[in-house]
Amino acid sequence: MSTTGIDLRTTYLGLQLRSPIVASAGPYTGDLDRLAELVDAGAAAVTLPSLFEEQIEHETAEIDRLFSLHSESFGEATSFFPEVDGYNTGVDAYLALVQAARDRVDVPVVASLNGTHIGGWLRYARLLEDAGADAVELNLYTIAADPAVSGLSIEAEQLELVALLCEEIHLPVAVKISPFYSSVAAFAVGLQDAGASGVVMFNRFYLPDLDLETLEVQARIALSTPEELRLPLRWIGILREYLRISIAGSTGVHSGEDAAKLLLAGADVVMTTSAVLRNGPGHIATIEQGLVEWMREHEYGSVGEMRGAVRRDAAADPAAYERANYIGNLATFTSRFLGERRR
Ligand SMILES: Cc1cc2nc3c(=O)[nH]c(=O)nc-3n(C[C@H](O)[C@H](O)[C@H](O)COP(=O)(O)O)c2cc1C
Repeated sequence: MSTTGIDLRTTYLGLQLRSPIVASAGPYTGDLDRLAELVDAGAAAVTLPSLFEEQIEHETAEIDRLFSLHSESFGEATSFFPEVDGYNTGVDAYLALVQAARDRVDVPVVASLNGTHIGGWLRYARLLEDAGADAVELNLYTIAADPAVSGLSIEAEQLELVALLCEEIHLPVAVKISPFYSSVAAFAVGLQDAGASGVVMFNRFYLPDLDLETLEVQARIALSTPEELRLPLRWIGILREYLRISIAGSTGVHSGEDAAKLLLAGADVVMTTSAVLRNGPGHIATIEQGLVEWMREHEYGSVGEMRGAVRRDAAADPAAYERANYIGNLATFTSRFLGERRR
């Protein structure tokens, strides 16, 4: 119970958290000082930026060397790092970040792996466990751009990958997905069946832009807006009744009200990156304060009471989460819009 008399506690991936507000992967969680500021402001857990499959594959030979050196040392993180001095690569730096984050903050630290292909790199996840991560988030960020590869085969490989990762490590595994599956619902349930402990909905892809002067294609990252919250809101609202595993709501959480919406739809935690990049790490406290105020005004004593209170099967109008009333909505918007224009 917090000093406000409101119980913000929640459970995510089997981990007990003081509040449902988590700092998702981004530049601040990769910087130890900013990471500590996020936690000081109330972040209940932190996800580190991703380590990429490509980075790991690149260093497979070195990793093989590590595995042979340390084949008996798993579970003994303290003895691990001194012996790999000199192994100064991206992979090594990531392990060091995990360990330093673990030492610096007293909330769960989630390490993040980005990868989509089954391969030797998966063994690397065990090193994250050794380095002290409390959980692993598998970030399935990929663009299905090859017309010769079907959606079915992509999804089958990804589900197998999740199953293999879950077998490989003892840590809980969350899977961060995009909203671009032909059936988000079937894929999320597939993740649960594959052994995942949680699903993060959703990652947010950067989109290319064209510079009309130079005709260069530019890879630009733009921060999210609260409007984008409606995508995870829909899917969390629909999927809560089918998922026993944890759900993290991600994309568009900028305020306490945004957090309240995703919790009501059924999220166990909400995650935020853009809002803290825009407003600074201290913004986590602003989101928490806004959530507490909303709960007090609406007479919710705990996050547990709120969670899923407006999921699809509990909502006054369940169809609003789906396509139903699409025609009605379009008609209402059109007549209101044209009416305002005429005035
Ligand atoms: C600059 C930047 C870097 C990011 N790096 C990662 C990353 O390494 N791994 C990851 O899973 N997500 C990464 N993300 C995505 C965020 O964790 C988050 O899912 C996304 O920004 C949507 O949440 P938001 O609306 O709160 O920003 C990054 C986002 C930004 C803006």
